[in-house]
Amino acid sequence: MDAQAVIFDLDGVLVHTDRFHYLAWKELSDEMGIRFDEEVNERLRGVSRMQSLEIILERYEGAPISMEEKEKLAEKKNSIYRQYLSGMTPKDVSDEVRDTLKKLRERGLLLAVGSSSKNAGFILEKTGLSGYFDAVSDGTMITRTKPDPEVFLIAAQLLHTPPEKCLVVEDADAGIEAGRAGGMLTAAYGAAKGNKNADYNLESFSGLLILTDAFNCR
Ligand code: BG6
Ligand code: MG
Repeated sequence: MDAQAVIFDLDGVLVHTDRFHYLAWKELSDEMGIRFDEEVNERLRGVSRMQSLEIILERYEGAPISMEEKEKLAEKKNSIYRQYLSGMTPKDVSDEVRDTLKKLRERGLLLAVGSSSKNAGFILEKTGLSGYFDAVSDGTMITRTKPDPEVFLIAAQLLHTPPEKCLVVEDADAGIEAGRAGGMLTAAYGAAKGNKNADYNLESFSGLLILTDAFNCR
């Protein structure tokens, strides 16, 4: 076992913005009379805004919606979501997360964010997390969303680290798939826990310290 870098998903791993995504999509769905529940919500983890909308619209029974209208709906969801994000502060990051990130760096591991979100920069800034990472790869830099490995491969490139020396930490099944497709090690956390394809399952965020103890990263 050998890794030199850890690439973290953002929503649902470093911060609980997955809850805000849920609330924003729920508000939009309710307005449109679409049944939206946790089952649908789970399918939205890790996938892009527009793909999330397409999944939600599978249950829409109204007249066909044009691409232009879809863009407007996605924008509307995003403005509801951004209202939640604008209330975020450094207190929205647990001590466990901060402490673990600090210790991982002390061990000589490179750290990056690998997120499908176009709001990643805003979230990192609001929560004061930016300084913990050597690189950020996000939704503004990719053309294909998870389960495609693009976002993680860009992170690895930015870290100048070969993919097989990277460990991806994810709460989305699509993210575990993406990490594997990129030839990286994967750790399932939160909602992805129990994912049979992941190399590791994390009971807690600080479990990363035990896991990476065995890594030859110095
Ligand atoms: C991912 C979330 O991190 O980002 C998805 O898990 C979300 O649910 C995606 O759709 C895109 O986010 P944003 O902020 O660009 O709408
Ligand atoms: Mg996530």
